[in-house]
Amino acid sequence: MITVDQTPNTPLTADLQPAEGAGDFLRDVLDGLSDAPKNLPCKYFYDARGSQLFDRICALEEYYLTHTEIVLLTEHADRIAAAFGPQSTLVEFGSGSCAKVGILLDVLERPRAYIPIDISYAHMAAAAARLAAAHPRLEVRPVSADYTRPLDLPHDLHGQGCIGFFPGSTIGNFTPRDAHSFLDDARLWLGAGSRFLIGVDLKKPEPILHAAYNDEAGITATFNLNLLRRINREIGADFILGNFEHEARYDATEGRIEMHLLSREAQCVTVAGRAFDFVAGETIHTENSYKYTAGEFHSLAAGAGWSVEAWWMDRDALFSVHLLMTP
Ligand code: AVJ
Repeated sequence: MITVDQTPNTPLTADLQPAEGAGDFLRDVLDGLSDAPKNLPCKYFYDARGSQLFDRICALEEYYLTHTEIVLLTEHADRIAAAFGPQSTLVEFGSGSCAKVGILLDVLERPRAYIPIDISYAHMAAAAARLAAAHPRLEVRPVSADYTRPLDLPHDLHGQGCIGFFPGSTIGNFTPRDAHSFLDDARLWLGAGSRFLIGVDLKKPEPILHAAYNDEAGITATFNLNLLRRINREIGADFILGNFEHEARYDATEGRIEMHLLSREAQCVTVAGRAFDFVAGETIHTENSYKYTAGEFHSLAAGAGWSVEAWWMDRDALFSVHLLMTP
């Protein structure tokens, strides 16, 4: 365990394994660009600039996911706190700026510990430090890790009936099959008697989805293109960003928004000394964002050993929050 930051009354420690080595990034990028069709893992969006751009997306009016979920969590915070009980330990997967957990911490009865897990270490550590300062009695222990891989939570917290928190519909980045494994693994990590609070984006008319992923201000486009900029800088590549454009489309059969980077023309890009050819109109698939009906999500959760204790959605049926428990 390495000490990351100290405030007078809160020793803030992190269990630090570098979330991804530079070697993983290089290998994943070369593998993805060698695939047909070309693709890149969406977890690499979140370098420092990508994390900031994502926060700006969350503030957009068109990106209904964030503000709708915040309203739902706030409206039902008391019911959620009652289910969690006193002295709970919260584990957040993909905690980013730790913005939403504050809603829960404000109503929970003497929460014991908060464990944010995120791949983007610096961004998370800064956010966790702010949170610790605001909640002096809470033990905050950031874990820098890629939670899409097997993960070891701090051992002294095992078997404590931890509470999982996975907001934002980040579960939509998984294919349904991977979401099933994740939910199943999470049930084992969190332990018997645990709860899992998950935000899930709902299926809805396509124009609403389209607007959310093709915002007027072009922040989502910049966020998507930032992945090429990151590859240029960290791996050594000569992507010309102006030669690619952001594309986000809904695939109704798969029930998912797909983000792509579309090559405007035939071109050759060199990445770490290797050449990759693009034909005009060819894309790199950068993200899936699956949408569920409440019923579909409940079947998925049940298949992974969870039962639904309660769930909520807004009156426009845009977004949903589910409180799962181990049966
Ligand atoms: C953080 C994965 C939930 O899929 O909506 C936002 C990421 N991509 N705009 C999503 C994202 C484009 C976001 N998640």
